[in-house]
Amino acid sequence: MFKFNFDVEDDTEQSTDVNHTTQNHGPASVQAVVPDVFTELFLTDALNSLPSKISYSPITIPLASGAELSLPRRDLFDARFQLISQNVDDPDALEQPSITDARSALHFLDAPSDLVPLVYEGGLKTWECSLDLASYLDGISSQFDVSGKRVLEIGCGTSIPSLYILHRIFSSPPSQNQTHIHLQDYNASVLELVTIPNIILTWYLSEAAETYRKSEEQADSPLELDISESLKDAFHQSLMTYGVELRFFSGSWDTFDLCGSYNLVLTSETIYRMESLPSLTAIMRGACKAEGPKGVDDYLCLVAAKVLYFGVGGGVTEFVRCVQGSDEGGTVKTVWEKTQGVERRVMSITWN
Ligand SMILES: C[S@@+](CC[C@H](N)C(=O)[O-])C[C@H]1O[C@@H](n2cnc3c(N)ncnc32)[C@H](O)[C@@H]1O
Repeated sequence: MFKFNFDVEDDTEQSTDVNHTTQNHGPASVQAVVPDVFTELFLTDALNSLPSKISYSPITIPLASGAELSLPRRDLFDARFQLISQNVDDPDALEQPSITDARSALHFLDAPSDLVPLVYEGGLKTWECSLDLASYLDGISSQFDVSGKRVLEIGCGTSIPSLYILHRIFSSPPSQNQTHIHLQDYNASVLELVTIPNIILTWYLSEAAETYRKSEEQADSPLELDISESLKDAFHQSLMTYGVELRFFSGSWDTFDLCGSYNLVLTSETIYRMESLPSLTAIMRGACKAEGPKGVDDYLCLVAAKVLYFGVGGGVTEFVRCVQGSDEGGTVKTVWEKTQGVERRVMSITWN
């Protein structure tokens, strides 16, 4: 029996038979599957919706050099705790566009399911190709300086590649260049519960937050972070000092509205479903080729994926066919691969 269990988790249920993903999930599975529409989530609002303390654990990224990088990642049990503590009867809470999505998120944090098509697309967990992509970015960091560039991570989930980039920015001297990092996930609640907390955690443990760390008495446990007003202020201040603009978008790729062109377009573990490939590749192409301040051909477009996604039909062959099959397409080149065990690749796309 095929299993759709390609995430890297040590803290979640792994095994999901994709043929059963629409069963046994209560209310979320019976609701009509209407794709979520494109919405921008504002950083300040998301930070204000966080509880007063969050907990995290390190995740280790094996780097191309043979070294390892440890990045903080919010614990899923902590996200779950936030959701069950949220008073959904609170009229203010109901104003939040993602509150229904948050209810589903609670459901999927508990359910033994990796994803449910067009309801929850798996972003709460970290999938292993995201580590490959971060590792690949580390390997090319001397040739590709992200400072001052425009970066889009599509289907970011826990956003490991973007966390890697932010870790580098916050560990380097502040730059005069404005770096734009835009992140998209299907589910707004994924952005609120894991993407944005992971970003603030990455900042908090970086050199950029050293002064703040020294000035504040922090939580009793070293793996907890107090989300205080002073922390939010210091984080916003660092974003300005380091010239980082962060924007967050949720919703289906079918409805995605690009905010200009990008120099670096990243995506990992997103090519698993055939039906979604045309909209995904259209966004990638548009993000690289749209007219914009970056210069039309100044881009790097990277996709990290398993070669085969059993049970769902997608994979590298279908992705390459989708990209190379039309005049509007492009050329796919494998730039990194693992051929033993479950085969994985990082691919670079050049668009026509
Ligand atoms: C399996 S998760 C991978 C998450 C993350 N990139 C990683 O590697 O850990 C797939 C991601 O693709 C996005 N996604 C999948 N199908 C989508 C669709 N039709 N529209 C928008 N986003 C989609 C979701 O945001 C989801 O987080």
